[in-house]
Amino acid sequence: MTADFISAELKALQDAGLYRRLRRVEGDQDSTLTLDGREVINFSSNNYLGIANHPALAARAKAAIDLYGCGSGASRLISGNMTLHEELEAKLAQFKNTEAALVFNSGFQANIGILATLAGEGDVILSDALNHASIIDGCRLSKAQTLVYAHCDLKGLEAGLKQAALARRRLIVSETIFSMDGDEAPLADIVELAEKYDAMVMVDEAHGTGVFGANGAGVVSKWGLASRVLVQMGTLGKALGGFGAYVAGSRDLCDLLINRCRSFIFTTSLPPAVMAMALAALDLVQNEPERRAALQHNCEKLKAGLSRSGFELGKSTSPILPLMVGDAGRCMALSAALLEHGVFAQGIRPPTVPVGTSRLRITLMATHSEAQIERALNIFEEVKRRWPAITTS
Ligand SMILES: Cc1ncc(COP(=O)(O)O)c(C=O)c1O
Repeated sequence: MTADFISAELKALQDAGLYRRLRRVEGDQDSTLTLDGREVINFSSNNYLGIANHPALAARAKAAIDLYGCGSGASRLISGNMTLHEELEAKLAQFKNTEAALVFNSGFQANIGILATLAGEGDVILSDALNHASIIDGCRLSKAQTLVYAHCDLKGLEAGLKQAALARRRLIVSETIFSMDGDEAPLADIVELAEKYDAMVMVDEAHGTGVFGANGAGVVSKWGLASRVLVQMGTLGKALGGFGAYVAGSRDLCDLLINRCRSFIFTTSLPPAVMAMALAALDLVQNEPERRAALQHNCEKLKAGLSRSGFELGKSTSPILPLMVGDAGRCMALSAALLEHGVFAQGIRPPTVPVGTSRLRITLMATHSEAQIERALNIFEEVKRRWPAITTS
């Protein structure tokens, strides 16, 4: 079997301007990074609250290693269900105001597994057009019919629900804060429609948790909808600064996943240090609301400055600011020009976003300083002045 197709495929990606390569971060994750050997201001992290390198997380992880060792040795259903998994699940359920919670190894694994457990042949999943790749893959894996409705389009969703009237089950799935656009789903309306048409609701709070809601519990909490949303999925690797994911919901939902969800069952459970980090992070998230206030302040400052400089921003209501460019080549050139001057704002292009909507995905952190934001704004302006062709959409 010849492997020529591999080099041919790589060349095709290069020719289309879609080739990706890994960049190396030396040192810790902070509002500045040492990236490929150079210090840059970091606007490309989901570490929104700036706690990924917090000493409290590190101390708790070290203590867990001393007490429980490093590896978990097996999957949860064999011998890998350790005290800390259960402690974290109890704390997550309390945080999310649900009966129970279940930890997953990653958000990707959670989404594919949950969707394939809750929907199958004869069912219909109604999925927002901008949902994350892991949700798209979960829909595919489930073998349910998937009806994709236009982004946040309630009329389209309602039409889909009517079309699915005869299905065995209907499941609406949406991110609460969209990962590449930073806008918020109309969750209360989605829940109303779900109730009207007897559908289940599953939300992905990967980018809502830690940032929204009184205690940082997310968008569901912000609108008081915990009892009306069947599945609240979220991750531990973004605002919570660690790694892993969870689902929060009823005890029955979690028990069904323990019994049926292949991406939960057939994988080694997360190690003790990771559980311990998440426990420490949940304390910080709930006890330090000033981090959310600082994050909000930083978002407003950067947004106002970029608008003043004439950049076109999407309709974000979160720390994810899409700076719209359109063309993939120009988007990557803009990202490279900024990086050259010390600002790391990742260019996002197809297939992550639809063709013609390439953008810089600028993400803020609570720990960006005023000086860093001002410096970044000056660099944005300088790049716009020197390269008007790449900054004008
Ligand atoms: C909306 C959304 N869901 C799920 C995931 C996957 O989570 P994880 O990184 O824990 O696999 C991500 C990003 O990684 C995401 O942005």
